[in-house]
Amino acid sequence: MTEEATSYRSHYCGRVSEAEVNEKIKVAGWVDSRRDHGGVIFIDLRDRSGLLQVVVDRDQDPELHDLFGELRREYVIQVEGKLRPRSEETINPNIETGTIELEAEKMELLNEAKTPPFPLDEAEQTREDLRLEYRYLELRRSRLQKNLALRHRVSQKVRKYLSEAGFQEVETPILTRSTPEGARDYVVPSRVNPGRFYALPQSPQLFKQLLMCAGTDRYFQIVKCFRDEDLRADRQPEFTQIDIEASFVEEKDIYEISEGVVKAAAEAAGVDLPEPPFPRMSYEEAMRRFGTDKPDLRYELELEEVSDIFRDTELGVFKSVLDSEGIIKALVVKGGEEWSRSRLDEYTEYAQSLGAKGLAWIKVGAGGWQSPIAKFLSDEEKEELVEQTGLENGDLIFFMADQPSVVNGVLSEIRRRVAREEDLIDDSHELLWVTKFPLLEYNQRQGRYEAMHHPFTAPAPESSDKLPDQPEEAYSRAYDLVWNGVEIGGGSIRNHQVEQQELMFESLGIGEEEASEKFGFLLKALQYGAPPHGGIAFGLDRLLMLLSGEETIRNVIPFPKTQRATDPLTGAPAEISVEQLQELHLEVDELDE
Ligand code: AMO
Ligand code: AMP
Repeated sequence: MTEEATSYRSHYCGRVSEAEVNEKIKVAGWVDSRRDHGGVIFIDLRDRSGLLQVVVDRDQDPELHDLFGELRREYVIQVEGKLRPRSEETINPNIETGTIELEAEKMELLNEAKTPPFPLDEAEQTREDLRLEYRYLELRRSRLQKNLALRHRVSQKVRKYLSEAGFQEVETPILTRSTPEGARDYVVPSRVNPGRFYALPQSPQLFKQLLMCAGTDRYFQIVKCFRDEDLRADRQPEFTQIDIEASFVEEKDIYEISEGVVKAAAEAAGVDLPEPPFPRMSYEEAMRRFGTDKPDLRYELELEEVSDIFRDTELGVFKSVLDSEGIIKALVVKGGEEWSRSRLDEYTEYAQSLGAKGLAWIKVGAGGWQSPIAKFLSDEEKEELVEQTGLENGDLIFFMADQPSVVNGVLSEIRRRVAREEDLIDDSHELLWVTKFPLLEYNQRQGRYEAMHHPFTAPAPESSDKLPDQPEEAYSRAYDLVWNGVEIGGGSIRNHQVEQQELMFESLGIGEEEASEKFGFLLKALQYGAPPHGGIAFGLDRLLMLLSGEETIRNVIPFPKTQRATDPLTGAPAEISVEQLQELHLEVDELDE
């Protein structure tokens, strides 16, 4: 075996070139398509590398021609023959081997195939359940083959880069205890320890910190993580991280190594990125200007807070929001005066579907200010709006009044939608470090503060006097790396002194008992000489999605799960037998289907 050749073939279909013209070659693969042209049959033969046209002529070899006549899509064959240039009119510029073809001399049928449940080239229009049930067929498509190959190259390149930078790949357990990344756990019952459960790691966070206590100094791992959370285009229940941790480091050390990782990954994909260091922006600035902690900087469209302009407003909705500590922000769409009423209604409905009470707008044109709320605006308010937002004739301006989290959450989505629909997104790559996160975040649902990154994140030095009494005013040493509006990685400098870590638990309202029950092993390890340390984890699937230009991480994962976290191919999750349940000391309640 060489890189290409095996007992069945001398070349990969997609790799033969004009250099082999007149040579005898042997290829093997799948019948991608067959075209009969009165006496001449053309087959596109496919393997992992691409397509090669195979031709057989009845006049030259009637028997072979008849054999080819019986081939169907996805049959597996081996063909031997002589490579020749194509005639001028049959050249296909769309494929790598479009100027050559194989004149068949011998063909062997290696396997038949049932008709696929969907034509492979129409997989995109097929419902997801069916595609995933036959994922091995969908994966034969060149687009997904390319994504798998890219995944391989990127992982290799990242491993090489990190290894050369002195990082060691260390494996950490999959059957473990709950890890604190904020999602629900996937749990595995223990047969030999009745009533006890392992949790699958949401990340190797605690183990990589233990490795720092162990003196590993520079750790990395390309590793599966498991999180039971609501799924989206960029979220899967099991996904892969490039996980990194190092000792005796500060933020700038992690930024530097991370920028190297991202550059290495981009190089493997042939994508040109801006030169590091990547720009940085505080969380506060990102929220103020873009309403999100992962702003897409490929386009401008900034949010403007206009609460002050409306301090004496006549407009009831704005007034009541301002009276109850809410804010008003605006978004100007240049040239938006042409937007139709129905399009504006769609945007209002979209805003409402995201949790807003409404979305006010004004169009400024030759006919004056057009808007359902214009009559409530004083001349002074109009003047101030023009001055602050740069509103001009021909523009459209949106307003949203609500609590800051709703205003920012919804307007940042409106911003993305406007950019997409108005074609404001160019093909540049904008990377951004978001820094200076608050240490804590208020969880509305549970009515309490929780760690914004995770509870092992150190507070910023200037905030150290805020713990434990005013933790909500403290900043952390966490950072995220954002690429074109996608959070591709996040990490922090950790608490390495046990007192500091205990203070954090106290600030979070995690009592001594709970802390020792959940994370006692880490607290113990910190007492035996833990070095200062910090790290980061990248979402490999998200990186690959951006590098390949895909819209969802499902297209870069070989065997992804559906929106409902199921796998139609294997049928997982599945019921288990009564015997298995008994062995595990489990009972399942009757479920109403
Ligand atoms: P975090 O939770 O921010 O940090 O995760 C790191 C990165 O992993 C990716 N990611 C996901 N990708 C696909 N599907 C998911 N469900 C999913 N969840 C997260 C994101 C994210 O930026 N232990 C810390 C890292 C650290 O502190 O060093 C951690 O896991 O790209
Ligand atoms: P209403 O008085 O409810 O008919 O609303 C008048 C206009 O204000 C409509 O265009 C609503 O979409 C919009 N609106 C209502 N509530 C809000 C809000 N909280 N923020 C911004 N616009 C709003």
